[in-house]
Amino acid sequence: MCGIVGYVGNQPAAPLLLTGLASLEYRGYDSAGIALLDAEDRIVVWKAAGKLNSLVESMKAALPQGTVGIGHTRWATHGIPNDVNAHPHLDCSQKVVIVHNGIVENYQELKDELLGQGHRFNSETDSEVIVHLIESSLKSGAELTDAVGSAAVRLRGASAVVAMAVQEPNVIAAFRMGNAGGITIGYADEGMLVASDLPAVLPHTNRVVFLAPGELVRIDHNGASYRSVDGTPVHQEPHAIAIDPGAATKGEYEHFMLKEIMEQPEAVTRTIGGRVLFDPADVMLEGIGLTTEELAQVDRVVLIGMGTSWQAAQAGRYMMESLTGLPAEADNASEFRYRDALLGPRTLLVSVAQSGETADTLGAMEEAARRGVKQVTICNAEGSQATRIADGTVFIRVGPEISVASTKALTGSIVGLYLLAAYIGRERGVLEGGRLASALDDLVKIPRLMGEALEQREWIEELAGLYYKYDHFLFLGRGMTTSTAMEGALKLKEVSYIHAEGYAAGEMKHGPIALIDKSMPDVAIAPRNYLHGKMMNNIEEVRARGGTIIAVVTHGDETLRGKVDHIIEIPETPPLLTPAVAVVPLQLLAYYIALRRGCDVDHPRNLAKTVTVE
Ligand code: AGP
Repeated sequence: MCGIVGYVGNQPAAPLLLTGLASLEYRGYDSAGIALLDAEDRIVVWKAAGKLNSLVESMKAALPQGTVGIGHTRWATHGIPNDVNAHPHLDCSQKVVIVHNGIVENYQELKDELLGQGHRFNSETDSEVIVHLIESSLKSGAELTDAVGSAAVRLRGASAVVAMAVQEPNVIAAFRMGNAGGITIGYADEGMLVASDLPAVLPHTNRVVFLAPGELVRIDHNGASYRSVDGTPVHQEPHAIAIDPGAATKGEYEHFMLKEIMEQPEAVTRTIGGRVLFDPADVMLEGIGLTTEELAQVDRVVLIGMGTSWQAAQAGRYMMESLTGLPAEADNASEFRYRDALLGPRTLLVSVAQSGETADTLGAMEEAARRGVKQVTICNAEGSQATRIADGTVFIRVGPEISVASTKALTGSIVGLYLLAAYIGRERGVLEGGRLASALDDLVKIPRLMGEALEQREWIEELAGLYYKYDHFLFLGRGMTTSTAMEGALKLKEVSYIHAEGYAAGEMKHGPIALIDKSMPDVAIAPRNYLHGKMMNNIEEVRARGGTIIAVVTHGDETLRGKVDHIIEIPETPPLLTPAVAVVPLQLLAYYIALRRGCDVDHPRNLAKTVTVE
């Protein structure tokens, strides 16, 4: 969601802020702005609705000078996306300025109070109350950091805020309350940075600190000091992040989505790398946070996630049941959080969250932590809040995923879940008699098999040319591939705005079958496995009603040729890992259909990469 960048240093701040905001575009936004301190120590603000280009255009006449500034890309919650509601927001005296990510739940109450004190509001945003709260404290003689801390403790809900004021011209203060996205502090040679995410920091430095909820940072040219929002000093040391900034560029590809689809074999190789041994068979997961005794106590696994990560969790359920022998269930984190879920002392919660900052998932994790439930998270983001809440983390190590539509993070998460299931199975003594060796043997084939699935790219591009004008699609899967069908439908909706449904094929005749006719193509995932015969029956049911069918089948399986309209082949894949391979052609289909329809593939409308509000 909203992106934040701040800079104090010896370089012109405007270009640095704009480049930083561009690197955060993937988070999703609808307006953008920056504020700088000029040579006379006045705050100057530029903001514009729409994409960053509109902001850059508006600034062309006179690129502002100054080496201290803050910038923001806004994803609207309160107030429409227009120039006025765009951040940064100034106080009444134009001497304090803030940018904000999150929701101030008690903003109306605070606004009434501030209006009563004579403050004047410009925007319809909840965020503006924050700058007026800071203004009030500064007027009563507080230093910037204390004023920002006092504002933080008045806010209900989750927020990340960055502020500066003319009173202390070379200082930026920032805080994080709850789970409204991260605040990362970067220690660069040319100055100090603060940002919502690593891509804005990594081009300048890999030495970073991540703020924990309730922490506040003050940065100036010389470094940073940390405290809690209520004033208790906090010790933080920068540590080096091992991420290649080049990973966040498109390289030879037109879009990040295509690049991230194509690099999946390499990405999941990193997920697996250094974690499996064959002689003797072994699986090693560093940082799992649970002892053999604790894992022996587990009697049930609950997997949660949102969107694509929820589809990974559903695939993970099968892996847990098969490789650990434990009963497992998968739930959408936002639903799980608010029902009275039965969590016992022996339940293991496994959350999937590539960003580690999804508010719904974090809320569910916090609820489980309150109830003393042991947790492992499958995550791509070092230092993220999910990794702090969980007892242990399986990092999927797929590199930054920039496209809003998740692709390599899904397959990395599926592989991460498989590694976790194999690890738990080994720890619990379930994978005896060569079962661990065989499970790992299956796993290490996956990068190659994904590479083979990607060889269908040109054919799928051709198919997209035949199907891009349809307005409705049905995706059908069975068993392990039901979540793949749901993911295929989600991907198509997200990037091409086509209505699509993903269903368990057995469910089709209980309702969706009424929709079947020539105008709604059915994508049937029918790999050769123990459910192949059942899937064939469902395909026949669609055929009998004149439906158009694209079947995803195992290479060499001729049983459907001539019976369906088009065939996409995937290689023979170990059943439990089929979701990691069968999803590849569906990702490509969504991408090429969206391209044909002229959609903004990497930045679909209304979507945010990291959903930091409920
Ligand atoms: C997938 O394409 C979406 N961008 C979305 O569903 C995403 O997977 C979801 O918001 C969860 O994100 P997370 O993995 O960062 O928690």
